[in-house]
Amino acid sequence: MLEIRDLHIKFHNREREAVSGVSLTIHDGEILGLVGESGSGKSVTAMSVAGLLPRKQCSYSGAIYLDGAELLHIDRKELRKKQGKAIGVVFQEPMNAMDPLMTIGKQVEEVLRIHTTCSREERKRLALEALAAVDLPDPEDIYGKYPHELSGGMLQRAMIAAAIVIRPKLLLLDEPTTALDVTIQAQILELLKRLNKESGISMLFISHNLNVVRKLCSRVAVMQRGVLVEEGDVETVFHHPQHPYTQHLIAAIPRRERKENRHGTK
Ligand SMILES: Nc1ncnc2c1ncn2[C@@H]1O[C@H](COP(=O)(O)OP(=O)(O)OP(=O)(O)O)[C@@H](O)[C@H]1O
Ligand SMILES: [Mg+2]
Repeated sequence: MLEIRDLHIKFHNREREAVSGVSLTIHDGEILGLVGESGSGKSVTAMSVAGLLPRKQCSYSGAIYLDGAELLHIDRKELRKKQGKAIGVVFQEPMNAMDPLMTIGKQVEEVLRIHTTCSREERKRLALEALAAVDLPDPEDIYGKYPHELSGGMLQRAMIAAAIVIRPKLLLLDEPTTALDVTIQAQILELLKRLNKESGISMLFISHNLNVVRKLCSRVAVMQRGVLVEEGDVETVFHHPQHPYTQHLIAAIPRRERKENRHGTK
């Protein structure tokens, strides 16, 4: 469904490429984990897929295919149209991604307003449905609330609702649980798992934490300094890491957490 082919991104104001020849495939219905140290190029890779790359500030080459349609080189307007409907995006800090002056309901509806011809009533119905789908209690109540009235975990659920309301094929999650405490993080992981199972939506899940990736993803790719150094089935990579950097990442996980069963998120 998504194929990144030999992606190179170099920002004009940097010596080194941020992404140096990354090739990556996400299959239909798959949750792919992307891990790597800070600055390794995870977010820039995701931004390229999401159409959020500041094109003027960098040179780029390669190709990104979403169900056969190339996204990296198409013009901005076309990209917005295609990407907005097909790809949902969730970032680490929901507070920064939201408009503080706009109700949750309106923000969830925004993508429908831009990309569909749904009536006002229809938009509200779909927004309430999405808020319910992410297990927010009392969607009617949440709909009229402002971001500052919600907890971090609830806000992140609302962000996920906004990302899935248009029923995209692919969800890009850039460290969506990093800012949350462990219990809330586990709940969000369960939610993502369920959404994936129920709707078959594919996901790219970016995280620093290989252990979190292990709880959610079937496959994982490891990045270091703009390069993919390892890729494979998550359990295989976890138990038999080939690359020294992956070995180092795994060694950094506390022993207690390492032993946890991969389905032990409950
Ligand atoms: N707009 C930009 N202009 C210049 N350099 C940038 C820009 N955005 C990212 N970079 C650089 O690209 C490289 C990759 O950054 P990226 O944000 O993808 O890393 P990351 O793997 O997501 O790190 P983190 O785990 O900290 O989020 C870094 O060296 C970063 O400084
Ligand atoms: Mg990042």
